Amino acid sequence: MNQEILFATHNKGKLREARAFLSKVGYVVYGLDDLFLDEKVTESGSTYAENAYLKAQAFSTLPFPVFSDDSGFEIASLGGKPGLHSARFAEELGGYDKAMDFIVGKTRQDDRALFRCTICLIEKGKGPRYFEGEVKGRILPERHGTNGFGYDPIFESEDGVRFGEASEEEKTLHSHRGRALLKLATYLAI
Ligand code: IMP
Repeated sequence: MNQEILFATHNKGKLREARAFLSKVGYVVYGLDDLFLDEKVTESGSTYAENAYLKAQAFSTLPFPVFSDDSGFEIASLGGKPGLHSARFAEELGGYDKAMDFIVGKTRQDDRALFRCTICLIEKGKGPRYFEGEVKGRILPERHGTNGFGYDPIFESEDGVRFGEASEEEKTLHSHRGRALLKLATYLAI
C-alpha cells in the first residue's frame, strides 16, 4: 500500500522530481499547495542542513513524514559563493540573466563550480536525517538552453550535461537534488 509523505515545497519542478523517485518505493508525495499550506519559513540557518531542517520542522506536526531541501551554487573563483545565498545573489544583481553575465565574466580563468543539495527528513518519533547530493562541473562561457531554472543555462556537469539544455529527467539523473533524492528513496525503501 502507498504511504504518504510531505515535501515542504511550493516548487512544482522539485515535486515532479521527488515523485519520480519516491513513487517507485511506494510513496505518495504531497507538496505544500496540495494541502493548502502556505506558511512562510525564514531560512535563517547558516548551512544547507539547517535551512532544510527549519523548512521541514515547520510542518512536522502533520501526521506523516515530512522532508525539505535546501540547495545552492558554489563557484570556485568566487570563493564558493553564492552558496547558501544563491537566490538572494541573483535578486541583488537584478535577476538571473544579470547574475549569470556577472558569473561568466568572473570565471574565465577558473570555471569550476558545483551545485549542492541537502534534504532533511523528519519522521515521527525520530531525529532528523540528512541526505546530501552534489554535482561538480564548469561555468560555460555563454548561456545555453532555456530549460530548468536559476543558473542552469551556464552550467555543464563533469559528465557533459548542460543543465539548460537537458530534459528534466536527464537533469535529475545528474543533479545534486536527484542524487540526494536517490539517497532518500533508498532509505525509505528499506
Ligand atoms: P532552494 O534550494 O530552492 O532554496 O534554491 C536555492 C537557489 O540555488 C535557487 O534559487 C537557485 O538560485 C540555486 N539553485 C539550486 N538548485 C539549482 C538548480 O538545479 N539549477 C539552477 N539553480 C539552482
